[in-house]
Amino acid sequence: MVITGASSGLGLQMAHGFAEHGADLALLARRIDRLNEIAEAFRAKGVKCLPIKCDVTNTEDVNNAAEAVIKEYGKVDVLVNNAGSSKNAGVLDMTDEDWDFTIETDLTSVFKVTRAFAKYMKEKQYGRIINISSIYGLVGNKALDTVAYHSSKGGVVNFTRAVAAELAKYNITCNALCPGFFETELTADVLKTEYFTNFMQSTVPLGRYGREGELNAAAVFLASDEASYVTGQALCVDGGYTAI
Ligand SMILES: NC(=O)c1ccc[n+]([C@@H]2O[C@H](COP(=O)([O-])OP(=O)(O)OC[C@H]3O[C@@H](n4cnc5c(N)ncnc54)[C@H](OP(=O)(O)O)[C@@H]3O)[C@@H](O)[C@H]2O)c1
Repeated sequence: MVITGASSGLGLQMAHGFAEHGADLALLARRIDRLNEIAEAFRAKGVKCLPIKCDVTNTEDVNNAAEAVIKEYGKVDVLVNNAGSSKNAGVLDMTDEDWDFTIETDLTSVFKVTRAFAKYMKEKQYGRIINISSIYGLVGNKALDTVAYHSSKGGVVNFTRAVAAELAKYNITCNALCPGFFETELTADVLKTEYFTNFMQSTVPLGRYGREGELNAAAVFLASDEASYVTGQALCVDGGYTAI
C-alpha cells in the first residue's frame, strides 16, 4: 500500500497503523533521508517498506513513483493521498503565489497521484483510494483565515465523489477522511497557542485535540475488504467538531 506524505505527522502515523495490520508499505515524500530512516525501522520489525523520494506536485516524480511501486510489489491495492501543506491567508490578502502553491500541493497533487496509481488498480480490478481532506473541506471557519486550504480540501471531497463514481466499474472505491485538529509539524504553531486551544475547547465536543494514531482506525477500515460497499464518502474524525 502507498502513502504520500509519510515522512511525518498523520501519514507516518497511518503507516504504523497499516503495518500493524500486515500491510507492505511504499512511503512517498520529499525528505528521503527521513523516509530511509523510517523504512529501516519498519524493516527491523519485519515490515516490507519501500521509501520513494517524490514531490507530489511533480508529474514525472509521481509517475516514476508509481512505476517503482509496481516494480517492487507488482500491484497497488491501497493508495492514501495524504501529502499536504498550506499557505494561510484570507481571501482579501491571499497572493496568487500562495493560492497556487496550496491548490497545487493539496488538490492537484491528489489528481496526479490518483491518475498514476489508479491505472494499475484498474488492471487488477481492485483498489482502495483514501484521500485525506479535512473538516475544512466541509465547512468554513472563524478561527483562522485559510481560504486556499478550504478550497483545495473542499475540492478533494468532490474529487473523491467523482472518482468513486467513475472507477466503481473497476471495483475501485474512493473515500475521503476529514480529520479535525491533530498536532503535527503542519499545525503545531497554531494549535499550541492559547487562542486556538480556547477555540478548540469551545468547538470540539470531546474537548481535546486528536491524539497520535487516532486517525488510523478509520483509514484501516476504508482500506479493508469489509469496506467494499463504502465509496464516495467523507468520514470526519474530528472529536465531533462538525456535529455541532
Ligand atoms: N494535522 C491536522 O490537524 C490535519 C487536519 C486535517 C487535515 N490534515 C491533512 O493531513 C495531511 C497530513 O498533514 P500533517 O498534519 O500530518 O502534516 P505534516 O506533518 O506537515 O505532514 C505533511 C506531509 O506531507 C508531505 N508533503 C508536503 N508537501 C509535499 C510535496 N510537495 N510532495 C510530497 N510530499 C509532500 C511532507 O513530507 P516532505 O516534506 O518530506 O515532502 C509530510 O510528510 C495533510 O493533507 C493535511 O492537510 C491535517
